[in-house]
Amino acid sequence: MAVQAINDGIFCIDIQHPDRKMFDCIMPTEHGTTYNAYVVKGQTKSALIDTADPDFTKEFMDSVDRCEVNVIDYIIILHTEQDHSGSLPVLMKKFPRAQIVATEAVAKLMLTHLHIATDKFMIVNEGDQIELGGRSLTFFKIPFAHWPDNTMVYESSTRTLFSSDLFGSHYSSDKLFATNSHEIKVAARAYYAEIMMPFATQVRKYTEKVIEMAPSIIATAHGPIWNQPSVILQKYMRWTSDQVEKTVVVPYVSMHGSSAVIAERLCLRLASKGVSVLSRNLGKKPDSLVVQSGLVMRDLVTAAAVVYVLPTVLGGPHPAGSYCAMLMNAMRVKTPFIGLLGSYGWGSRASTIFAEMTSGLKKAERLSDVQFEGLPTEDQLAEVDKYADDLAAKIMQLGDRLI
Ligand code: FEO
Repeated sequence: MAVQAINDGIFCIDIQHPDRKMFDCIMPTEHGTTYNAYVVKGQTKSALIDTADPDFTKEFMDSVDRCEVNVIDYIIILHTEQDHSGSLPVLMKKFPRAQIVATEAVAKLMLTHLHIATDKFMIVNEGDQIELGGRSLTFFKIPFAHWPDNTMVYESSTRTLFSSDLFGSHYSSDKLFATNSHEIKVAARAYYAEIMMPFATQVRKYTEKVIEMAPSIIATAHGPIWNQPSVILQKYMRWTSDQVEKTVVVPYVSMHGSSAVIAERLCLRLASKGVSVLSRNLGKKPDSLVVQSGLVMRDLVTAAAVVYVLPTVLGGPHPAGSYCAMLMNAMRVKTPFIGLLGSYGWGSRASTIFAEMTSGLKKAERLSDVQFEGLPTEDQLAEVDKYADDLAAKIMQLGDRLI
């Protein structure tokens, strides 16, 4: 539990949840997460921005008390998901005279998700302002970063931007501000991959808008606060661009060793052509599927190609590979080249089913699928070499798209 000043008259209540190992039952969060809420004290009024996950309501309410705010005039809700709004019902009881403030999109979703009546809200629109006395809060809608209701609010006198989920990280730490740690940057990339990447077009526009605003601090709803905003803004500009690295991701599963032989040959040959390779074994250990699929999504933020190497099971691609491929499809990766290699026992419809599962990735070029019956022969492995050579050549031809 911590209440710390992040700027003059602005405090962060960062509820730490270091033991949270999964988010949305999909995303591994090896560093846990935080739920950040903020108190802004003006000369005449005070506002509380967001609340906390309902499991931490008591801790959150204790933290609000420690802010020494006798009266909260405004409770501002930037986004409906319960990790930020879940303590609102208790907060409303404690501060019954506080005005709850949100956009119409938030208010509508709060009715269905928390059963809070829409007439409890003061509705704000794009550019509306709330004056606190020497502090002024301006609202900006950022739909689909990552829900339709996400909202940012900007305090102009201190140039503090409260960005809701945008620019967040699932990273619990006793340090409130982002450091130069590699771990923090990896956590921000992972968060981008699994939360923001499906909405990269919108997120890029919001990032450009924030660059124009030139905030001194970006106070996110999860993880470290960015007191050098250019660090995360530059990363978002790169991640949301169509630029990629000379990297091929190889998610693979091998039941009897045949697919592993293909994957190894592919990786070695690609590496010999100057292409970086990230191979991810989706089936090595009981938790490999979720952990390695999460890593694949992070890799695909900037990879030039992804080639699955999968055995056929009951006529289709191995279910572990199918899970990862469907996740990749949902995350709308920008990867220019997608391929499938594999081995089957006596027959396979893996190519057709894989194409259906990844049909949302319309901009990607499909590499020709190659399937071998049983353990590949040396001649068949020479086909894998040719496949790697052709792919490496295609990547080099990306030209200006390469970072
Ligand atoms: Fe952190 Fe979309 O909730």
